[in-house]
Amino acid sequence: MEEKKRMLSGIQPSGELHLGNYLGAIKNWADRVNDYECYYFMADLHTITVRQDPAELRKRTLTQLALYIACGLDPEKNTLFIQSHVPAHAQLAWILNCYVMFGELSRMTQFKDKSAKHSDNVNAGLFTYPALMAADILLYQADYVPVGEDQKQHVEITRDIANRFNGIYGNVFKMPEPLISKIGARIYCLASPESKMSKSAPGGCVFLMDKPEDIARKFKRAVTDSEVGHCVYFDKEKKPGVSNLMNIYSSVTGKTFEEIEKEFDGKGYGVFKPAVGEAVIESLRPIREKALELLADKSYLENVYKEGAKKASYIAEKTLAKVYKKVGFIPR
Ligand code: TYM
Repeated sequence: MEEKKRMLSGIQPSGELHLGNYLGAIKNWADRVNDYECYYFMADLHTITVRQDPAELRKRTLTQLALYIACGLDPEKNTLFIQSHVPAHAQLAWILNCYVMFGELSRMTQFKDKSAKHSDNVNAGLFTYPALMAADILLYQADYVPVGEDQKQHVEITRDIANRFNGIYGNVFKMPEPLISKIGARIYCLASPESKMSKSAPGGCVFLMDKPEDIARKFKRAVTDSEVGHCVYFDKEKKPGVSNLMNIYSSVTGKTFEEIEKEFDGKGYGVFKPAVGEAVIESLRPIREKALELLADKSYLENVYKEGAKKASYIAEKTLAKVYKKVGFIPR
């Protein structure tokens, strides 16, 4: 029997999970399990490139695990783990730091954005972040990395690093490919639809744990445009707000843009916006309820992340040992 291809992805528990994380990433993870061997983790090591409140970080990491499961990632079938529980991530990251160039790291959009946003804390970790992300991916010899569009550049630099390493030492790392869904790959802020939805603008961000009434309010207030007739049609340049809402509606209902245009023909934004809100509320309701239920059972969650770390370590350590040998470290 042919071996299953491997899929791996992670999310930073630096904020609560939001609709962008869900539609851009997690939603596409859950239905892959039968065809792939899947690894998903909470990227806690990555979060401290920006200052975190320790108690909050612990809480969010656990909530994120509950949400992974609530979104359909069955821990019996997927390996779910916490990044810091598998030391090989930090160990391989150090090595890869020596195989990625200053110039390459300087070109990373996320570094440029975050160093502008946190100008009082432009630490070395923020700069070398892609080496850790490359380690995350390469340790598992992942074939595919399902992410939103904003992470494509990081998967590309991972490929460059893997290529460089393989070029020197032979075939050590599998070449990973980003997997970006067409719909949902980039969800924009509801309050300013020219920037991506992010936890740093909470007013325009729908969190998976938001109460239904809060979600409804955020959609009712969503910024659209003042075009005469309030027509619902897709035009990313002229109508970024409406196009973003259509994208969200299409992602959660499975309807095509054509069907959506027809559905709201002549109805205006006053009907369209609450309808999108309702559809999102209904698709998030079971997720939130399930997550709350899981969070009440800490020992279950503990069991999941312990098992996950065991399985992940097994694979990760194999790769790390190979790398150590290749670069010339004496085995202990
Ligand atoms: P992070 O934590 O910022 O985001 C997690 C995932 O959510 C996607 N995403 C979005 N998709 C669509 N629209 C949005 N507005 C939106 N906002 C976020 C991201 O593309 C991502 O897929 N460096 C990564 C985390 C990471 C990782 C990894 C990912 C660490 N190691 C290894 C894959 C493989 C990050 O900061 O994503």
